[in-house]
Amino acid sequence: MSVKASVFIATSLDGFIARPDGSIDWLNEANAVVPSGEDCGYAEFIKSVDVLVMGRNTFEMVLTFEAWPYEDKRVVVLSSKPLIIPAGLPSTVSASSESPDVLVERLSAEGTQRLYVDGGKTIQRFLAAGLIDDITITLIPVLLGQGRPLFGPIENDITLALMATRTFEFGFVQVKYRVARREYNIIKEVTP
Ligand SMILES: NC(=O)c1ccc[n+]([C@@H]2O[C@H](COP(=O)([O-])OP(=O)(O)OC[C@H]3O[C@@H](n4cnc5c(N)ncnc54)[C@H](OP(=O)(O)O)[C@@H]3O)[C@@H](O)[C@H]2O)c1
Repeated sequence: MSVKASVFIATSLDGFIARPDGSIDWLNEANAVVPSGEDCGYAEFIKSVDVLVMGRNTFEMVLTFEAWPYEDKRVVVLSSKPLIIPAGLPSTVSASSESPDVLVERLSAEGTQRLYVDGGKTIQRFLAAGLIDDITITLIPVLLGQGRPLFGPIENDITLALMATRTFEFGFVQVKYRVARREYNIIKEVTP
């Protein structure tokens, strides 16, 4: 399988991607002090992505934005329930209830090279399936105390290797990790 799956996300220092009700006002507030022209690498990252896979909760949050932010980028929204894609969205947006394995297999067969996986639960499912290759986290200097976590319970440790760090003078810290291959993590689990 040649498709590479990446996470590019912002969290509070205590590891939350949203408040318990899904709101990201704290992130918008933090972004308000970012100098114009600074996007912490997002434009370069999104340019490298063929398909964005997001969970239903993230999709619903994005629908509240003033405009659809992904232009004609292919987007797959995951939900176990029937999902209505609003008529105004590009035809490149589709819904799916496939498991991460099946979806990645299909997209790979269709020639996809790089996936952007977004949404906490969705990232957790892809990680559990051993399907995430790299994770870029922009740490926002705020503690929320509670909220929707980026990471959750896992059956086995997942080993990561640091690829890069960046610090921004306005207080953000960005860390990029490569996720060790699933085979490595499974072998590590059974090796004393
Ligand atoms: N800080 C950031 O940079 C950042 C980035 C992205 C999102 N967010 C925020 O994070 C929140 C969303 O994260 P979240 O953890 O709540 O959820 P999420 O991952 O966006 O969505 C979870 C939902 O996705 C569906 N889903 C995921 N994988 C599936 C699969 N393989 N098959 C079928 N359905 C699947 C399920 O929907 P059903 O229940 O319909 O089955 C599940 O309940 C939002 O508030 C968003 O604003 C923040």
